[in-house]
Amino acid sequence: MKPAAILALTLFSSAFASAPIPTVQQAKDTLNYVPNAYILEFSPGAVSKRTMASRHEEVYEAIRQKDIPFSVGQEYNTSEILIGVAIRLSSSGDVAKLSEISGVEAIRPIVKVPAPRPVSSVVINNPKATDLPDTYSTHVMTGVDKIHAQGNFGKGIKIGIIDTGVDYNHPLLGGGFGPGFKVIGGYDFVGDAFNGQNAPRPDNDPLDECNGHGTHVAGIVGASPNNTMGISGVASDASLASYRIFGCTGYTSDDIIAAALIRGYNEKMNILTLSLGGPSGWSEGTASVVASRIAAQGRVVTIAAGNNGQEGGWYTSGPGAGIGVISVASVDNIVSPVQNATVHGVAHKPIPYFMALPLNVTSEMPIYATSTNISQPDDACSPLPDNTPDLSPYLVVVHRGTCSFTQKLANIAAKGGKVAVIYNSDTGGFSAISVGGYKAVLISAEDGKFASLVEQFIAKANITISFPQTGGATTVANPDGGLISTFSTIGPTFEMYLSPALAAPGGNILSTLPLRLGGYALESGTSMSTPFVAGAAALILESLGTTADVGRAVLRILQTTTASVASSHTDGTPLQTVAQQGAGLIQVDRAISMKTIVEPGQIALNDTEHLKPNHTISITNLGPKAVTYEIHHVPAGTVGTVIPDSHFVEPVPKMISATAAVVFSASSVTVHPGNTKQVHAIFTPPSDVDNATLPVYSGFIHVTSPAETLKVTYLGVAASLKAASVLDVTDKFFGISLPAVINANGRPQNGPTNYTFVGQDFPFLLLRLAFGTSLLRIDLVDKDIRLAPTVLSKRSPSPFTWWWSQSTAGTFGKIKTIGPLGDLEYQPRSTNDPFSGYDSFVFPGTFANGTRIDEGQYRALLRALKVGGDPSKEEDYENWLGPQFGVVAAP
Ligand SMILES: *[C@@H]1O[C@H](CO)[C@@H](O)[C@H](O)[C@H]1NC(C)=O
Ligand SMILES: *[C@@H]1O[C@H](CO)[C@@H](O)[C@H](O)[C@H]1NC(C)=O
Ligand SMILES: *[C@@H]1O[C@H](CO)[C@@H](O)[C@H](O)[C@H]1NC(C)=O
Ligand SMILES: *[C@@H]1O[C@H](CO)[C@@H](O)[C@H](O)[C@H]1NC(C)=O
Ligand SMILES: *[C@@H]1O[C@H](CO)[C@@H](O)[C@H](O)[C@H]1NC(C)=O
Ligand SMILES: *[C@@H]1O[C@H](CO)[C@@H](O)[C@H](O)[C@H]1NC(C)=O
Ligand SMILES: *[C@@H]1O[C@H](CO)[C@@H](O)[C@H](O)[C@H]1NC(C)=O
Ligand SMILES: *[C@@H]1O[C@H](CO)[C@@H](O)[C@H](O)[C@H]1NC(C)=O
Ligand SMILES: *[C@@H]1O[C@H](CO)[C@@H](O)[C@H](O)[C@H]1NC(C)=O
Repeated sequence: MKPAAILALTLFSSAFASAPIPTVQQAKDTLNYVPNAYILEFSPGAVSKRTMASRHEEVYEAIRQKDIPFSVGQEYNTSEILIGVAIRLSSSGDVAKLSEISGVEAIRPIVKVPAPRPVSSVVINNPKATDLPDTYSTHVMTGVDKIHAQGNFGKGIKIGIIDTGVDYNHPLLGGGFGPGFKVIGGYDFVGDAFNGQNAPRPDNDPLDECNGHGTHVAGIVGASPNNTMGISGVASDASLASYRIFGCTGYTSDDIIAAALIRGYNEKMNILTLSLGGPSGWSEGTASVVASRIAAQGRVVTIAAGNNGQEGGWYTSGPGAGIGVISVASVDNIVSPVQNATVHGVAHKPIPYFMALPLNVTSEMPIYATSTNISQPDDACSPLPDNTPDLSPYLVVVHRGTCSFTQKLANIAAKGGKVAVIYNSDTGGFSAISVGGYKAVLISAEDGKFASLVEQFIAKANITISFPQTGGATTVANPDGGLISTFSTIGPTFEMYLSPALAAPGGNILSTLPLRLGGYALESGTSMSTPFVAGAAALILESLGTTADVGRAVLRILQTTTASVASSHTDGTPLQTVAQQGAGLIQVDRAISMKTIVEPGQIALNDTEHLKPNHTISITNLGPKAVTYEIHHVPAGTVGTVIPDSHFVEPVPKMISATAAVVFSASSVTVHPGNTKQVHAIFTPPSDVDNATLPVYSGFIHVTSPAETLKVTYLGVAASLKAASVLDVTDKFFGISLPAVINANGRPQNGPTNYTFVGQDFPFLLLRLAFGTSLLRIDLVDKDIRLAPTVLSKRSPSPFTWWWSQSTAGTFGKIKTIGPLGDLEYQPRSTNDPFSGYDSFVFPGTFANGTRIDEGQYRALLRALKVGGDPSKEEDYENWLGPQFGVVAAP
C-alpha cells in the first residue's frame, strides 16, 4: 500500500480528544435527504393501453383522493429507463400512504448530492509566465497519443457532460454554442441561483461562468489541441452537450441527476459522463439505478469513483456504484509542475516547491522554524509558544503531519506569519496540497530538514529565501506518478461489486476554466479521471462503431486491456488492491487494436458465504491465424480493511501477504480464427488470514498470446459480511458508549426521562454505522418488552432470553412493536471524521406516518440489517433497545 498523504486520525491514541457530541440542530443537518421529497417509480405493466401522460395524472388523482398535499417536480417518461415523478409532500407522515397507491412500484427518498470539488486546484491566469507540464503526458500514459496518431479524435461521437455547465465561449471549447460548434447543445436544469434549497429555474443555456468544474471536465474530454498551453482533449473532435445540474453554489439532488441522465439518453448521447457523487456503498439509489438502465441500453456511462480514499475501504460513491456503469479511479500524472525558490547567504541549490505558478512573494525573507526537532510530526498543530517572535518578516518553516495544513497555518498566522514552507514527512507524497487561503508551499523532506533549512536555522545562519517570479518553473518526474492517487475512493460495495471499475489519470491535470475565472487550471480528483475515460470511450466508438452492443462492451474492452497499477514504486511490492484501482490504468491503444475477446471483464467472488468458486473465461480469436494463449494468475495485494474487533475501518487498508489460489482447467489453449474456447478457473480465497479484518483479496487472470496480454479482474472478501458488525457499540468516538439517546440538554439520557416534544424538548438517537446496512429501522416498543438486544452498550437493560421459536424465518414480524418511528434504506458506513462521522435520528414525538404518539412510557428499538441479511429474519439484524422515555403533555 502506498503511504497515505493524509495522516490517519489518531483515534486510538490517548491524545485523541473525543469528538464533540452534536446538537439537535447538527443532528438534523446531517441527513443526506431532501426533507419530504421522494421519487415515485410507476410499474410499467399497468401502463398498457393508456397514454403516459394520463398515467401520471392517474397517480396524482389517487394521491389527491387520499387528501395528501403534494407538489410535482421532475416527471420521468421514458419507458425503458424510468416512468415516474419526483414529488414533495408537506408532511413526512404522508409517505407511508403513497405505497398503498396502485401502480407505485418504488418510492425512493431524494438524496442531496454535494457539488463536485477538486482535491486541489490552481488557477493559471498567465500562461506565458510559466512552463506548464504537457498534459500530453496523460495521453502517453494511456496510449491515447497512439490513437491520435492514427487520426482518431472521436469524430461523430456525442458526449453529454452532466455537471456545472460549460463555458462554451472558451476558444479551446469551440467559442460558441449550438449546431456547428463543439458544444452542440444541452440544457440548464437549475440556473445560476440554484443552491439545492431553492427552486430550480431551468433554461436552454448551460453556460458555466461561476463554478468552473464542468468547464475543466469539458476540456479534458474535448479541448481543441495545438495551443500554447499544451492542452489537448482526449476526444477533441467529439461533439459535446452540457447538462447543467448545479447552480453557482450549494448542492443538487438525485431527482435532477436522473432527469439529466434521461435527457442525455433521449438526445442520443453515445456517452454520458458525471464527475460527481456522494457516499453510498450500494447500487440502489435513483441515480445509480437510472445510470445502470442507460448502460444496459448500450450507452456508455462514466462516473467518478470519488475522492474519499482517506476514509479507507467500503466507501464507494453513488451513482458510481451503479451496475454496468464505468466508475473511474484516479492515477497520478507522471510529471509534476514545480517552481524553484532561491537560497541566498549560503551556497545551496534551488529548492523546488510544489506549485505550477510562482508563489506570489517578491521580497527576500529570512527563515524561522517552528520546531528545531526535525522528527516532530505534530509541529505547529497546537498554538505556538508565547516566546515566539512576530513572524511577519519570516518565511516560516514547518513540518508536515498529524493535523491539517490549515491548522498549522492558522497557528502560524496567529503569531503574524504570512508565508510558510511546509517540508514533507517521510511518507507524504510530493503532490498538490490544500492550504485554504494561506500562502504556503510544499517542499521535499530533504530540503526541509537534512543539511538544509531547519539546520540553517539551528545554526543561526544568515540566509534568506526568495521566490523568483519568472524563470523558476520546471517539471519534475512525479515520484507518485503512475500510482493510484491517495485520494481515490476505495471500494468494494457492500454487495461485493467491483467499484471502481478501472482507473485513468486524475492527479495534476491541466485543463480549461471559464474565461472569467482565469481560463486554465491545474486540478486533481476523480472528477478529472472520469471525463478522460469518457473521451477514451469516444475513441473506441469511433473505431468500433456506435451500436448498443459496442456500447455495452466498452467496459469489458477497457477492463481487459488495462495496465495493472503497483502499490508503490518499490520493486517487489504487490499490485495495488483492485478495491482501489479497479481493473487498472486504461490503455486505449490496446483496447482498440486487440485481436482477442476475453470475457467476462471482471469476476465478483463475493464473500465466503456466497462464494462461487468455478468461473468460465471465454477466449475468442479475432485474428486471421490460430493463436496459443497462456493462462496465468497474477494476484494483487490482499488488504485488511477493518481493525479487528474495533468497529473502525483501517484508514489505510493494510497489505497482507496472503493471496487467493487459482487453478485452471488448462494452462494454455489454442484458438482457431473466429473460434471461442473456454477455460475454467477455480478460485480459493486466502485461508491464512484473520477474517475479522475483512480481508479483501483480488487480482488478475492473464490471457497472453505472443502479441498481446488480456486480463480478467477478480475481487472477493475472505470473510462473511453477515458476520461484520454494523453498529458501533464502543465509546471511542464521542467518549460515550453508542448508540445513545441524547436528551434535550445535549447529554446522554441515563435514567427514564419524559419529553413533551414541544419547543426544544426533543431527544435524538446518536449512532455510528461501523459498516453499511440496507435497512435501519426504529420502532416504538413497550417499556417492558422482553427481547434480547444483540448489541449491548452500557445503558442497555440486562439481556432477557430469546422468547421466539427456534425457526427464525419470518421472525422479524414477531417482535411486538407499537409502531414504526422511521427507517432508512441503503446507508453508507460512518467515517472517522469527528464532525460528521455519525448518524442521528431526531424523535419527532410522532410515528413515521405523522400520527402523534399517545402519552405513555416507551422504549425505542433500533434494528440494523446485517449485510447479506434476510429482512424477514430477526436474527439477521443487530438490535439495540434504548432507555425508557415518556411522552408527556406540555405543562
Ligand atoms: C496541430 O498543428 C500541427 C502543425 O500546425 C498540424 O500538423 C497538426 O495536424 C495539428 N493537429 C491537430 C490535431 O489539429
Ligand atoms: C530547480 O532546482 C532543481 C534542484 O535544485 C534543479 O535541478 C533545476 O535545474 C532547477 N531548475 C530551474 C529552472 O531552476
Ligand atoms: C500578490 O500579492 C499582492 C499582495 O500580497 C496582491 O496585491 C497581488 O494582487 C497578488 N498578485 C497575484 C497575481 O495574485
Ligand atoms: C546577512 O546577510 C545580508 C546579505 O545577505 C547582510 O546584509 C547582513 O549584514 C548579514 N547579517 C549578518 C548578521 O551577517
Ligand atoms: C453477493 O451475494 C449477495 C447475497 O446473495 C448478493 O445479494 C449480491 O448481489 C452478490 N454480489 C454479487 C457481486 O454478485
Ligand atoms: C467448473 O464448471 C464447468 C461447467 O461450468 C464444469 O465443466 C467443470 O467440471 C467445473 N470444474 C470443477 C473443478 O468443478
Ligand atoms: C470468522 O470465522 C469464524 C470461524 O469460522 C466465524 O465464526 C466468524 O463468523 C467469521 N467472521 C467473519 C467476519 O467472517
Ligand atoms: C414521567 O411522567 C410520568 C407521567 O406523568 C410520571 O409518572 C413520571 O414520574 C415521570 N418521570 C420522570 C422521570 O419525570
Ligand atoms: C400511524 O401509525 C400508528 C402506528 O403504527 C398507527 O397506530 C396509526 O393508526 C397510524 N395512523 C394513521 C392515520 O394511519
